Parts: sequence; C-alpha cells; structure tokens
Amino acid sequence: MSNQDEAQGALAPWREPLARALHRNRALANSRYFQLATVRPDGRPANRTVVFRGFRDGSDALILISDRRSQKNQQIQRNAWSEICWYFPKTREQFRISGKLHAVEETTDSAVTQALRMQIWTAISHKAQEQFGWPMPGGIRTDDGEKESSSETSFSTGPSSASCASLPIAEPQQPAPHFSVILITPYRVDHLKLRGEPQNRYRYDLDEKQQWRQISLNP
Ligand SMILES: Cc1cc2nc3c(=O)[nH]c(=O)nc-3n(C[C@H](O)[C@H](O)[C@H](O)COP(=O)(O)O)c2cc1C
Repeated sequence: MSNQDEAQGALAPWREPLARALHRNRALANSRYFQLATVRPDGRPANRTVVFRGFRDGSDALILISDRRSQKNQQIQRNAWSEICWYFPKTREQFRISGKLHAVEETTDSAVTQALRMQIWTAISHKAQEQFGWPMPGGIRTDDGEKESSSETSFSTGPSSASCASLPIAEPQQPAPHFSVILITPYRVDHLKLRGEPQNRYRYDLDEKQQWRQISLNP
C-alpha cells in the first residue's frame, strides 16, 4: 500500500476534533455553515458562506454545492487554492482549512465524480434543487424583487421558500445543468480552541509523502 493509499485509508488526525465539534454544536443550525475564501483573477480575496455537505466517502475531501455560473466556480478554474473558516460557537473553536478546490460540473469527464454529483443532487431538498433553475447568479435582477417568507436559506437542508423566479427543473432525478459539487482537498488545518487557560492551537500539515503532521502552536 502506498503512503497515499494509507493517507486515504486512515482519516486525517484533524477529523476527530472536527467531528467532535460538529457533534457538540449540532443543535446550532449554523454550525453546518462555513466561510469559503477564493482568489479573484486580480489577486484579491473573495469570501462567502456555504453549507457543509459532508465528506467524500473514503477521503478527507469536504463537499459543498454551487452553481457553475457563480463567481467561485469561475475563480477556481484560474486558481484552485482556497481557505475555509469555520467557527463553532458553543465549544468556541475555529478550524481554518486550506486546500485545493475541484468543481465537478456537468461537463466534468469522470464517471466516479459524476456519480458523486448525482448522489448529492438526489440528497438535497427539492427547494435546494430549484435554485439551480434561477437566473444567472450575480446578474442584474429583472423580476419584481424580494419576497421574504422564511428564515431558512434555500441552501439549507430544511424547508424553505424560493424568492426568485425559477425555471422548472425538467428532470428532478437528473442534476440540473448548472448544479456543481465542489470538493475541498485539505493540505493544512489550523485548529484554535478558545476554551482553556491558556488557549490551545494545533496545526496539521500534509507532507510530501501524504502523511499528516501535527504540531502545537502558541495561540
Ligand atoms: C447561510 C448561507 C448558506 C449558503 N450556502 C451556500 C452554498 O452551500 N453554496 C453556494 O454556492 N452558495 C451558498 N450561499 C450563497 C453564497 O454565500 C454566495 O452568495 C453565492 O454562492 C454567490 O457567491 P459567488 O458569486 O462568490 O460564487 C449561502 C449563503 C448563506 C447566507
């Protein structure tokens, strides 16, 4: 077995503290959201909130969904580097995960990743599916504007009301053309625990042999 296989077989050491944080903060719906930073073509940062959709089976890659027409998908094509920032209010810990992004879009030529795209599409709610029939994200709005009706975001897994004219999803069993899955493959994780005297901070780095190394840092 190669080191890479071993690295893929065993979960990365930061997965256990992250799983614990997710579990202990599970009552807070927003503990499933994190901020995803990417790099714009002019070198400036871009940042937005996204929903964590779980880990890819047998790997440490995090999953999120996105519209392939969005800025983030365009940015990834030029520069795959990203960092996510994830704060868990109840346990007062922050995970900053740096890694490379890979967008699985309708045209991505891999049966394996297309199967994943299909799997995630069928797992999301109908309301979440519908937003992939919305007009161009970030384009100038031409309908009559906002219709507030729910505290849920259409990105959440819970029930919600769309507030933007949707095109009907032609085949709910088939991913909409604009539906994409983004995979984040982590290379570095910085875990800060505010609780404790003194606070604790750990850094995990994936080395050139695909082994994770853990060090303790000053907070
Ligand atoms: C709570 C919350 C959850 C969100 N979840 C997602 C998500 O999972 N995927 C996504 O593409 N955008 C999500 N969004 C919208 C993004 O923050 C962002 O506005 C959108 O993706 C367009 O960003 P971009 O043009 O930089 O790609 C969410 C927004 C909020 C407030």
